[in-house]
Amino acid sequence: MVKLICHDIMTQYHDKIENFRCEGCGPTHLDPYNFHNSDEVLKMAVPMVMENRKQWGLEGLVEDLQAIIINTEDRNFTPAIQELLDYTGLDIDSAFENEFYKSAVLKVQNSADFLIRHRKDKENPHVDYNIAPKTNLHPNTRLETFVYECRDIEKYVKKQIERGVSFQQDEILHRDNYSFIQTIPSCFTGNSIGLIEWKGKKGDYSSSSDEDLVIDAAKKDHSYLKNIKQLDHAATRLECQNRDAAIVEFMELTNYRFDFAIYVKSFNSITNVARFRKDAYAQVFTTGIEPYKTLETSGPTEKYVHNYGPRVHHMAFHTENIEDTFISLKENGMKFLLELVGSPEEGLKQTFSRGSENTFLVNEYIHRYGDFDGFFTRSNVTDLTKATDAQ
Ligand SMILES: [Fe+2]
Repeated sequence: MVKLICHDIMTQYHDKIENFRCEGCGPTHLDPYNFHNSDEVLKMAVPMVMENRKQWGLEGLVEDLQAIIINTEDRNFTPAIQELLDYTGLDIDSAFENEFYKSAVLKVQNSADFLIRHRKDKENPHVDYNIAPKTNLHPNTRLETFVYECRDIEKYVKKQIERGVSFQQDEILHRDNYSFIQTIPSCFTGNSIGLIEWKGKKGDYSSSSDEDLVIDAAKKDHSYLKNIKQLDHAATRLECQNRDAAIVEFMELTNYRFDFAIYVKSFNSITNVARFRKDAYAQVFTTGIEPYKTLETSGPTEKYVHNYGPRVHHMAFHTENIEDTFISLKENGMKFLLELVGSPEEGLKQTFSRGSENTFLVNEYIHRYGDFDGFFTRSNVTDLTKATDAQ
């Protein structure tokens, strides 16, 4: 696969063109970039995005992650909630339904909220991104939306529409306690960006027009679940050739900054990290270095995207007493892709659960030691990445 990028306007061309000529800005004065992921293009794009955000009047409008929205099939709605109650520190805060959705709000202290939903409406804007060889029976299942708090949603939407951004709703939804809108799914990740401006108490998602919903799921009284705390990061896996565009798009829709990229050549994998502020929740994008070839020859990341489509692969939870918690989770039925890996000397311990049958999502349990701020260590990245190959 060839990807030629005009350095001046960042437009991509996928066909090899003799005497490359950018259709956007005329005859090229720089050599086009022949695709093989490196940080060369991203390093040029990131400062441009940061500057553009200021010029467009978007800087300072969007805060950190407020919630994630996970949509499930109807039959998986309650099991997905029970599973999160059983294997994380999350508990049910409220549940309600209206003509469009049934929703359960799950919370744990100092974390983004989890909205588990079943969409009643047949129209699902994500469906084209949801269907892949291993997801055919769950066409509505996805971690769909990352919702960020917005200080002035009217101004944000006006500015983004001027830039050509498309939203799922024709107008901002004004509910009792908040105003909300979300973008159409990204063609790079299949994920949507939601914006919420609170009118009153933060974190109250129901409105007077909603009806209370009784959920047949309950939190068990296991003390080890209290060790599993806030959402540390969520990692989206996407096609390698969309890495730069997906990160630029995400930065243009939020006020996140690009932190760093770690290359693991042996697994054809790059972990790319964006954050709103230091030590806060991290938005992770994982891609190959080179594009997917075949199931036999491609690395775990490209294979996963081939089998499941671009989507969030795992949600990582900060975990205290991780050794005991890992043992207790196993004793209580959680299945893992690998043992607990890492050590205090290396800076972290972590593991991956098997993917959920209700959401496809893997739970990562992670504990960092000292001031280590990474997402894996040199010694355990092999085990971790290899473990996901089985998916
Ligand atoms: Fe992770």
